[in-house]
Amino acid sequence: MSLVAPSRFRRIQHAMSKPSTKSATITGPKLTSTLNGLAVEARTRSVATLNQVLAELIDLHSQTKQAHWNVAGSAFYSQHKLFDDLAESVFEPIDDVAERIVQLGGTAGGTIRQAASTSSLPEFPTDTKGGLTYVTALAERYANLGNSVRKAIDSTANAGDADTADLLTGLSRTLDKALWFLEAHTRA
Ligand SMILES: [Fe+2]
Repeated sequence: MSLVAPSRFRRIQHAMSKPSTKSATITGPKLTSTLNGLAVEARTRSVATLNQVLAELIDLHSQTKQAHWNVAGSAFYSQHKLFDDLAESVFEPIDDVAERIVQLGGTAGGTIRQAASTSSLPEFPTDTKGGLTYVTALAERYANLGNSVRKAIDSTANAGDADTADLLTGLSRTLDKALWFLEAHTRA
């Protein structure tokens, strides 16, 4: 004899067969299980968001190094030094972002090929190298990523992942400071 009345059993069956509206709104690769108490939906959103940021940080770091190596002109030394300082400032967050992805049960997509295929930043100009060409090109890219990261802060905070939002907030400050250093060169 069943311990559950037939009508109640049908209701339970119906509830179990209904797709979850929460998991339907945020999808992504299956995450590794963890004792971390964050909801799967929050972890899924953070992993996807952080992998996009990771790709763009790797791209931005390599583009800044490209500028550091190839810059020429009367302001060579100051720009050569500045670009190296900026590259260093975005290098450390790469590791923090990648490790946060794995802490949340995801897989960090951090190879050069993965970054190149995922990043939305435009390729660095290779036809000129003097004057403010590189400063302007880098300013656009640092602003581009800075604005994306600001949206990512809101997205991850709204999903309930305050720690990822905090990590991205620190990154946002780094990118804003770099943008200030670059834009200051273009002001009279
Ligand atoms: Fe160098």
